[in-house]
Formats: sequence, C-alpha cells, structure tokens
Amino acid sequence: SKSGLLVVGSYVQDHVWQTERLPMAGETRRAHGFATAPGGKGFNQAIAAHRQGAPVQFVGVIGDDPLGRFAQAYAREAGLPCRWQVCADAPTAAAGIVVDDSGRNQILVALGANEQLDPEPLRELVSGASLLLLQLENNLDALRTLVALAVQAQVTVQLNPAPMHADLDSTLLGGVDLLTPNETEFAALVSQIAGTPIDPSQVAALSDDALHAYSRKLGVGTVVITLGSHGCFVSHGANSRWAGTDDDRYRVPAMAIKPVDSTGAGDAFNGALAAALLREPGAPFRQAIDHANRCAALSVEGLGAAPSMPTLIEVQSRFG
Ligand code: RIB
Ligand code: NA
Repeated sequence: SKSGLLVVGSYVQDHVWQTERLPMAGETRRAHGFATAPGGKGFNQAIAAHRQGAPVQFVGVIGDDPLGRFAQAYAREAGLPCRWQVCADAPTAAAGIVVDDSGRNQILVALGANEQLDPEPLRELVSGASLLLLQLENNLDALRTLVALAVQAQVTVQLNPAPMHADLDSTLLGGVDLLTPNETEFAALVSQIAGTPIDPSQVAALSDDALHAYSRKLGVGTVVITLGSHGCFVSHGANSRWAGTDDDRYRVPAMAIKPVDSTGAGDAFNGALAAALLREPGAPFRQAIDHANRCAALSVEGLGAAPSMPTLIEVQSRFG
C-alpha cells in the first residue's frame, strides 16, 4: 500500500540581503539586513508539507562541505525525514537573494550538487509513495527517470516547473498529473509546448476561457497557475484525477497580507497543496487550493524561505 509524500528536489543555502530597493547594474548599495537560511525549492516544499502535518520524506543532494552538514542538521532539528545523496565533487548549492522593502526579490542560484541527482537508488521510494512532488532545480535526466518510474507505479506526480527549463518537453509533462507554473513559467510553457507566444506580464489579465484553453494545450490533467498577489487559476481537463471534485476552471484571489519577503511563497503553496491533497484524497480540489493559498500568504509575512513556512496550527489560528 502507498504511503505519503515524496519530495525529490533541491537544497540551497540562501543568503538574504534586505534593501530599500533592488540595486541596479553597476550600483553598490548598503543593505539594512543580512541572514543566511536553508532554502531550495525542493527543501522548502518538503518543509512546508511537513509543517502541515503530511507524512513526507525529502531526497536532496548536498556537497561534502559545511553547508551540506548545516542542511542535515537543520532537517534533523525540524524532524523532517531525509535521504541525502552526498556528492564528492560538487558543492552544496548557494543562492544570493536581494529583498526590497515591498517584499519583492531577485535571486541568483548556483545549483551545485543538485545537478548530480542519481535516480537509481530511489526506485523503491518512488513506487511506494502516494504522491511525488518535483521541481526543476535538478538535472532533467534524473527527473525524467523519476517521472517514468512514478507513471509505471501509478504514483500521482505534481511538478512545480521552477525555474523554467528550456528542455522541458511534452514527454516529461505527459507523466505529470498536476502542474503548478507561475505566470512567467506558464508563458514559457505555452510557447515551448504549444508553440503560442504569450506575454508573461499579461497572463493574469487573460480571461478564464483563454487561460483554460492554453492550460489544456499543455497535456496535463490539472494546471494551477500561481499569479502572485492575484491569487491563482485552476484548470482541470476531463482526464484530471480531480476533475469530478471541482468546477473545470476558476480563479481564487490571494489573501490580503502585509508582504515582508515573497521568497518561497510558491514553495509554501506547492508543499501545502500536496499535503492537503494527501490528507483528504476525495475532498474537492478547491479545498486544497484554499489551504495552499493561506500557507503561501503566511509565508510571505516572514523573512526567508524554509524558515517562513507556517505550521498547521498557525494557519488554523489565523484563518480558522
Ligand atoms: O523558491 C525559492 C527558492 O528558490 C529559494 O529558497 C532559493 O534557494 C531558490 O532556489
Ligand atoms: Na518568506
């Protein structure tokens, strides 16, 4: 019998600078704060799901270095079950993140060891999972293998296509049940997969019918487009695992919050969505979306990525 959520993805050590406004090319600015904290889309999503009470296991790749040991210690402290691959010849990933006073950010990430993911030792873990959650911060060949394994074992696959990868193709997408791009990733996917160029800055302004039609061209049962402060858009095809539980297309507004740091908001959304889908498999999809939306909002109120992932109790006490 299947058990739990498996997140295979990146670990990144984030270095976060706070500034009034983002620097321009050639400009030196004084930052008014600095912190280093665990991040990486995979790790953030695993922590988010874990704090929502989901039975989750994380697989990540780190270097044989101090940042890698910090990652292991943080995960142990957080009580997150992990299986680490320790890479001898690549460093633990690191990111430089600049956050301005309105919560906007700029991120530069060196993926290091994450690009050496070896899928072979993960065969049993994948086939034993109920839900496999992936992002695009690992070598794509390994992700392809994992998706193929999941399809074979009838494991539900959720893919957060971030950051977008030019080699992502319809073969890989064909094994995905739930795809969660943001506006930019959605625009890139539509032009890459469907051959229709669309302007990323116009995505949120498109009609529900247009978003639904574009989503259907991606060949994935369910597409959820995250739209930042505009909330998200949900599109189910007839072949979706959740089609029967929900309307086939709708928009959900974001919660009103005071933005501090939007880094990892998409990760909070993805981890919480997976956790909610796992907790109540037969429930309306919309219910899981509402939960994910609340978690994403709370994460934006805190500085840092993994550290700002809310707990289930925090979500309940804030939103009932
Ligand atoms: O999604 C946010 C994450 O993306 C950060 O934690 C950073 O590590 C980058 O990978
Ligand atoms: Na945050």
